[in-house]
Amino acid sequence: MASLIIAAIFFVSLLSTATVAHGRRFVRSYDEPCKEMTLYFHDILYDFSNSTANSTSAVVASPTALLRAMNTTIFGTTVVFNDPMTEGKALPPSLEETEVRAQGLYLYDGKEALNAWLAFSVVFNSTAHRGTLSLMGADPSTATRDISVVGGTGDFFMARGVATLRGDAVEGFTYFRLQMDIKLYECYV
Ligand SMILES: *[C@@H]1O[C@H](CO)[C@@H](O)[C@H](O)[C@H]1NC(C)=O
Ligand SMILES: *[C@@H]1O[C@H](CO)[C@@H](O)[C@H](O)[C@H]1NC(C)=O
Ligand SMILES: *[C@@H]1O[C@H](CO)[C@@H](O)[C@H](O)[C@H]1NC(C)=O
Ligand SMILES: *[C@@H]1O[C@H](CO)[C@@H](O)[C@H](O)[C@H]1NC(C)=O
Repeated sequence: MASLIIAAIFFVSLLSTATVAHGRRFVRSYDEPCKEMTLYFHDILYDFSNSTANSTSAVVASPTALLRAMNTTIFGTTVVFNDPMTEGKALPPSLEETEVRAQGLYLYDGKEALNAWLAFSVVFNSTAHRGTLSLMGADPSTATRDISVVGGTGDFFMARGVATLRGDAVEGFTYFRLQMDIKLYECYV
């Protein structure tokens, strides 16, 4: 019984840890996020016209031989992006200069279904936050999906958590907006 209680205390202390370093307190709690934010991710794919001003992403690899042979999917198509992120849904006045950006790639990895994989950094350069969060994970075409926040730098030094993505708008094939609810469960506060 005593050893069970000791094991339980040990387990609870593993789940919720707070230490002080760099003048900030490291908080880890898997029940309660230590930081939460909602950001909108705007992706404007180059539409193959000669107007390049409004594009923040571009296909860099496509199509694969498998794609050509199947005629049906976009398997292997890879898109590189440097997208604006905003707190509200509206596009920012400048697509190139925003305080928060998403920089990375997504690639389509579904042979039959529309299924993607995302890997990118959210780069913060505002008075509120400086630093980066690195996110990656499977992005199936479900209403919501979770991807991992695998690390961070600057204000987000050693951060970890989960980001829930939800498709918020689609216009043609060139524009989509994602709502991204980021919850950190390990962070310095
Ligand atoms: C492409 O460029 C030509 C010549 O500058 C212009 O007339 C045309 O409107 C442009 N097309 C698009 C889609 O921007
Ligand atoms: C840029 O693209 C977005 C999304 O498609 C559109 O709403 C906006 O009007 C475009 N802006 C310009 C200047 O073409
Ligand atoms: C793919 O499309 C081409 C041209 O439209 C057609 O000739 C070919 O049979 C198609 N292949 C398959 C696997 O559907
Ligand atoms: C960060 O913001 C400052 C001030 O707005 C700006 O001068 C600087 O160029 C920005 N840095 C990057 C990498 O965007």
